[in-house]
Amino acid sequence: MLKHALLKATEAGAAEIKRFFNGDFKITNKEGINNPVTEADHAAEKAIFEVIRQEFPDHFILSEESGEIVMDSSYKWIIDPIDGTINFANGIPLCCVSIGIEYNGQMVMGAVYNPFLNELFFAQHGFGATLNDKIIHVSNKTEVIKSCLVTGFPYTYLDEPNGPLQVFEKLIRKGVPVRRLGSAAIDLCWVAAGRFDGFYEHKLNAWDSAAGFLIVEEAGGKVTDFKGDKYSPYQPHIIATNGKIHDELVAIVNGAEF
Ligand code: IPD
Ligand code: CA
Ligand code: CA
Repeated sequence: MLKHALLKATEAGAAEIKRFFNGDFKITNKEGINNPVTEADHAAEKAIFEVIRQEFPDHFILSEESGEIVMDSSYKWIIDPIDGTINFANGIPLCCVSIGIEYNGQMVMGAVYNPFLNELFFAQHGFGATLNDKIIHVSNKTEVIKSCLVTGFPYTYLDEPNGPLQVFEKLIRKGVPVRRLGSAAIDLCWVAAGRFDGFYEHKLNAWDSAAGFLIVEEAGGKVTDFKGDKYSPYQPHIIATNGKIHDELVAIVNGAEF
């Protein structure tokens, strides 16, 4: 029932993304210079809400464009109607719908769907992770120096020690390939699928990572904050890896040489 609603909501959001892609849509800007929201973000969010409200009118919702819709419920849907809005707005087909569901504060289910690659990632707590219904696993790399990583940068520059550019520079100077796809949810799912060995980012919101972090964990990976402690999507830092390079990447993100 819950899974059915989750997948239906994900598909409904994705149909709106496809409908607007490469067409005419209104763009407005949120805080920062390059933090757009498009008509498609709102339309996808509306379509997702409609499915949830049909099936579960009393569930709590946290969604990027509408904020919190507070309900007295053990269930909380955490929604990013388009993760990768800049890609979407530029006609780059690397964006997705991302929806995670918490039950009593624990992430129990997540789905991330990129309709352009037709890739649906799904995980249920304790039941593994899948890509289009096939079980997926993280990679086997054991050293950061031999890894392929991915990261993202916030819309406003973070001027702090071991900030996004410092960590990026350190890895690049050592010749480590570090990709930047522009969708944290896809970054996480691609770690889960073994395409990347690790992902780190300095400033995410709950809707960026809610589904993806569960998908990585269920694919056998490890997800923590920058201290290496248990991950919460309600704080900004994330390190998600295959588990084997985790401690090394945590140390590097905190300033260690390698
Ligand atoms: C963004 C993407 C991007 C990440 C940003 C997010 P949005 O989400 O996930 O990869 O670097 O921090 O805000 O704005 O496209 O939903
Ligand atoms: Ca996002
Ligand atoms: Ca978004």
